[in-house]
Amino acid sequence: MQQIEKYKQEIAAAEANTPEAVEVFRIQYLGTKGLLKTVMGEMKNVPNEHKKAFGQVLNEFKQFVEAKFEALQQAVGGDANSASDKSFDWSLPGSFVPVGTRHPLTAVRNQIVSIFKTLGFAIAEGPEIEDDWHNFGAMNLPEDHPARDMQDTFYISQNPAWLLRTHTSSTQARVMESQKPPIRVICPGRVYRNETISARAHCFFHQIEGLYIDENVSFADLKQTLYFFVQEMFGKDVKVRFRPSYFPFTEPSAEMDISCLICDSKGCNVCKHTGWVEILGSGMVHPKVLENFGIDSNKYTGFAFGMGVERICQLKYQVNDLRLYSQNDVRFLKQFTGVV
Ligand code: PHE
Repeated sequence: MQQIEKYKQEIAAAEANTPEAVEVFRIQYLGTKGLLKTVMGEMKNVPNEHKKAFGQVLNEFKQFVEAKFEALQQAVGGDANSASDKSFDWSLPGSFVPVGTRHPLTAVRNQIVSIFKTLGFAIAEGPEIEDDWHNFGAMNLPEDHPARDMQDTFYISQNPAWLLRTHTSSTQARVMESQKPPIRVICPGRVYRNETISARAHCFFHQIEGLYIDENVSFADLKQTLYFFVQEMFGKDVKVRFRPSYFPFTEPSAEMDISCLICDSKGCNVCKHTGWVEILGSGMVHPKVLENFGIDSNKYTGFAFGMGVERICQLKYQVNDLRLYSQNDVRFLKQFTGVV
């Protein structure tokens, strides 16, 4: 009986911090060759008159060992055999999964695309490395045309001329080449111009150009389409104005300004204190361009427009330095968390 008291002290002090250690405890004390069995075996050596008292002590001892075993099991969250089921505490708070952000240019491009989609425009994409014909010739800029200087071009080779496209009008050329009117597409993509990098200019940027060719398409359709676009993009309060302009591939041509959203037209650096900012070029597709693709310019007319995604993004999110878009600075990018 004294020995049992000692065992009790030893068992009370036993520790088991893992399911495996609890299993070791079970084998040592409760297993078929364990201590409890051995002590029970002593019963046969006890004289009859003491059996009753010893039986009680043994019973108590058994309960004591079993209680200790259960306590250890609970402390490690299960027994060794089913540890994977029970060791996970489902009530713990969830672990934090960091969510990435969309690049602001991607977000704005998506917004622009989805607005034109509601008007029935399809998306067309084309190569960034272009030949001279699709980028210039087909767009009514024959060789030696002075307007080629409007867009400083990165040439890859001279003869034949391969170049990095200077506008996504080249994709419009490819659409007119392969589709018959009615045509209603927008052409998003990256374009390149040989400019010195600064806050206001970059050697690459992103455009979305649009093309709509059908019978009886008029300048009023052009204006209404673009007016709808800016209202969807910037809200109902934005004002627009058209200024006559020149592009070789459109006639007449116009540039569109919107009221400056940065200063509410009071005058700031972005609008150069005029209250207006230019956001796109547009016009009626030049008959020569239509004829370049065998489209009968007596039957069909069309409008085209082109805008820079960076500029739209600048007005929408007040980004004042073009270089921020390509520096991959997470402090900049993180500000667009949740923008889709
Ligand atoms: N392609 C012109 C540019 O890149 C934009 C434009 C497109 C203007 C269509 C008029 C019509 O500057």
